[in-house]
Amino acid sequence: MRTKKLSKKEVLAKLKQAQEKDLKYEDGKILCSMCTTPHAAAKQAHEMFLDSNLGDPELFQGSMQLEKEVVAELAELLHAPQTCAGFIVSGGTEANLMAMYAARNAAKTEAPEVVVPESAHFSFDKICRILKIKQVKAKLDADFRVDPASVEQQITKRTVAVVGNAGSAELGTVDPIDSLSKVAVAHGVPLHVDAAFGGLVLPFLKELGYAAPEFDFKLAGVESVTVDPHKMGMSTIAAGGILFRHSKTLQYLKTETPYLTQPYQCTFVGTRPAASAAATWAVFASLGHEGFKKTVAHCMTLTTQLYEGLEEAGFEVLLRPQMNIAAFHAANPKRLTQKLRQKGWYVSQVPRLSCIRLVMMPHTTTQHVTDFLQCLKQVYTK
Ligand SMILES: Cc1ncc(COP(=O)(O)O)c(C=O)c1O
Repeated sequence: MRTKKLSKKEVLAKLKQAQEKDLKYEDGKILCSMCTTPHAAAKQAHEMFLDSNLGDPELFQGSMQLEKEVVAELAELLHAPQTCAGFIVSGGTEANLMAMYAARNAAKTEAPEVVVPESAHFSFDKICRILKIKQVKAKLDADFRVDPASVEQQITKRTVAVVGNAGSAELGTVDPIDSLSKVAVAHGVPLHVDAAFGGLVLPFLKELGYAAPEFDFKLAGVESVTVDPHKMGMSTIAAGGILFRHSKTLQYLKTETPYLTQPYQCTFVGTRPAASAAATWAVFASLGHEGFKKTVAHCMTLTTQLYEGLEEAGFEVLLRPQMNIAAFHAANPKRLTQKLRQKGWYVSQVPRLSCIRLVMMPHTTTQHVTDFLQCLKQVYTK
């Protein structure tokens, strides 16, 4: 630690200097992130609850109430029954970890296995390593969605859970969750749906006239769902969400906490920021269902503009986007990513599929998409 302290002015100047190096979502150059500028109400709520700790909830009963209310709103949106339970956690990784931990502990199987789509988020690589679960990958179909027959083939007596994507991180694809649900029920294994991104998109798509498959607790086999407010929920970081169909599942997550105001915790993170739960509550309250629908409509309009623009310019689009993520083939995605970066654009590549991936978030505008397409045409060489 430094021996000579800085003045308040110097501290602020240093912080500003660092912040200036960060990209700003509003500039529209970030086309690779699943996060966005938080809603103004979220920022305000976050600041109000900066010192509140959900890890010691009896001390912060107002914060605890906000978390309960926001979890109830997510549960209602995703058709969870009254028996459900959930938490606002640090993100999709912790949410998926909790689901896998509960499934593994409930199954009490030696040498546990989990069947995930080839397109599962890399958080499952970490989770399976930590929990010592063997990760078995099921094949995808031509539309990059998991093949339920491949999932079924991989199920053994050691399988503790099956995972499906409702909005894959790479392409935004939605696996056939209804078929996975039937497979899960038939084999008596829980189905976990990773809707970290899609959980706050898909519920609004159908109302907007887009095709949107069922993916939530309406389907009998779905035992848990990840849904992250810090992605399409426009909340502050870190706000992930995990919902379990039955509160009795929490018994598999409990750790005793003798010196705290509650006898046990279910989350991995101990001291938990009430700020992001409060921020999530504030966005939900400020936007309501119609506000979210409008935001999703905006992102989908941009996705169509992008998709049509790419096609018009002769790019080979991987598939018609199911949600607000588009991808197109590139002969050398790494080189193209670098060229675009030199022009100030940040896109991501999926080397496995030799493609460039673009995410249309609430901060993106029509002008950003137009400018990006123009730049892409200039820098692209086969
Ligand atoms: C589908 C999916 N699952 C899980 C995660 C991990 O979420 P986080 O980065 O919030 O831990 C992501 C992140 O992008 C995701 O898209």
